[in-house]
Amino acid sequence: MDISVKSGQPEKQRTTCLIVGIFERRRLTPTATTLDKASGGYLARILRRGDMDGRLGQTHMLHDVPTLSSERVLLVGCGKEREFDATAYRKAVVATTTALSDSGASDAVFCLTELTVKDTDIARKIRIAAETVHHCLYRFDRLKSEKPVTARPLRKLAIMVTGRREQHRGEPAVREANAIAAGVSLARDLGNLPGNLCTPNDLAGEARKLARSHRHFKTTVLEQKDMEALGMGALLSVARGSRQAPKLIIMAYTGGTRGDKPFVLIGKGITFDAGGISIKPAAAMDEMKFDMCGAASVFGTLHAVATLRLPINVVGIIPSAENLPDGNANKPGDIVTSMSGQTIEVLNTDAEGRLVLCDALSYSERFEPRTVIDIATLTGACVIALGKHASGLLGNHPSLNRQILEAGMASGDRAWELPLWDDYQEQLKSNFADMANIGGREAGTITAACFLARFARKQRWAHLDIAGTAWDSGANKGATGRPVPLLTQYLLCQVRGR
Ligand code: BES
Ligand code: MN
Ligand code: ZN
Repeated sequence: MDISVKSGQPEKQRTTCLIVGIFERRRLTPTATTLDKASGGYLARILRRGDMDGRLGQTHMLHDVPTLSSERVLLVGCGKEREFDATAYRKAVVATTTALSDSGASDAVFCLTELTVKDTDIARKIRIAAETVHHCLYRFDRLKSEKPVTARPLRKLAIMVTGRREQHRGEPAVREANAIAAGVSLARDLGNLPGNLCTPNDLAGEARKLARSHRHFKTTVLEQKDMEALGMGALLSVARGSRQAPKLIIMAYTGGTRGDKPFVLIGKGITFDAGGISIKPAAAMDEMKFDMCGAASVFGTLHAVATLRLPINVVGIIPSAENLPDGNANKPGDIVTSMSGQTIEVLNTDAEGRLVLCDALSYSERFEPRTVIDIATLTGACVIALGKHASGLLGNHPSLNRQILEAGMASGDRAWELPLWDDYQEQLKSNFADMANIGGREAGTITAACFLARFARKQRWAHLDIAGTAWDSGANKGATGRPVPLLTQYLLCQVRGR
């Protein structure tokens, strides 16, 4: 799908569909008013008949409106004008996409950008529109033998802006939106793939593929023997229960100057998490194919950053393994030695994410990162605490935490901070090793982060627990691509120096 910005007069646009807003109580927005005048009161007449009153999310398609150059006009309900904020605007865009997607319109011109949206400038309006349209049109049907076909799919969308100034602001915004959407789509594809088709080896292949499709991009894959040489006893212990060899995937994008310290992103890449010997219950266990969504978000963010050719260096590190029960698997009570030298008593083999991440954190030190962010579907407790609306954020550097929270707000991909107080560290006490890998029932998301913090002491580090945000369950089961928008926004803000 091609999305671009365009300036000009809406009523003059030659298109198969012109998209205009209607506020509640049948109030015409500026472009709707123009179209109404040009057509001799056609729109107002339809509205008076009661076909639509402008409630948020309502849509109504008109055909062959008199005197207009466009084949169709889609009226989109925007709700109460005074309550029109970014959330309402996003809902109106979702409704627009649903109405358009099998309307027969192959190109469309979107005019809702003219509306005042609370706390939202033109760039953000364009970002939301483009990212939301891409998001709604996403399908994962590559594994269905009969693909649903749309006879005349939507191929082009022009987002209207008024004049030069908005065009100037709008062009980078739409470029960013397209790149972020491509990153989100890649992350969703990888997340949605089943465990048998997305093994650590497959992820390594994807990383090599990504390197081939971008300039200034290099992928290195460390094999089991390399990790043994580095002393990554924690990571390797997780893989022992699987026939799939573990991989440590390192992707380096060098868009910055040589010598610039990189931003490091570490993504949990457990391609299936059965729990190991501490095996999970059967219900919904299939969803543990999504346990590599942290890794997927690193792929997606690097794809977006490289597409935008951001002038920074970014390193993505993916510790990848499969967590299964086997005669050779980790057993409760086993003690492993991490790359940092710290010993860990594995009291629960299902707390495997932190075991692979801790060695990746130690490994990341060699890059002397500006900041390190790890992204992981780490704890069921985070789903209980925050549900699916916010990712959990914990970190050891207040200003990094603040920047991540702000990037989340700005991109509509929000995070919420939980305390990383030393008081919680006590829960990780082990009688036999330096620490246990679990901290009991209380504050599970925090104790997981406390564990990671012990391996990030030398770094400016933050942790995003995406257990609740990375995928949807139920009828719309599937990966969301989060937090690619947040991470890309964070890096964009670093480039702009704020
Ligand atoms: N991948 C899971 C976390 C998870 C569970 C995410 C359910 C989303 C939904 C992780 O590896 C895990 O099993 N965590 C355990 C930790 C516990 C044993 C301390 C959990 O959350 O139950
Ligand atoms: Mn687990
Ligand atoms: Zn897991």
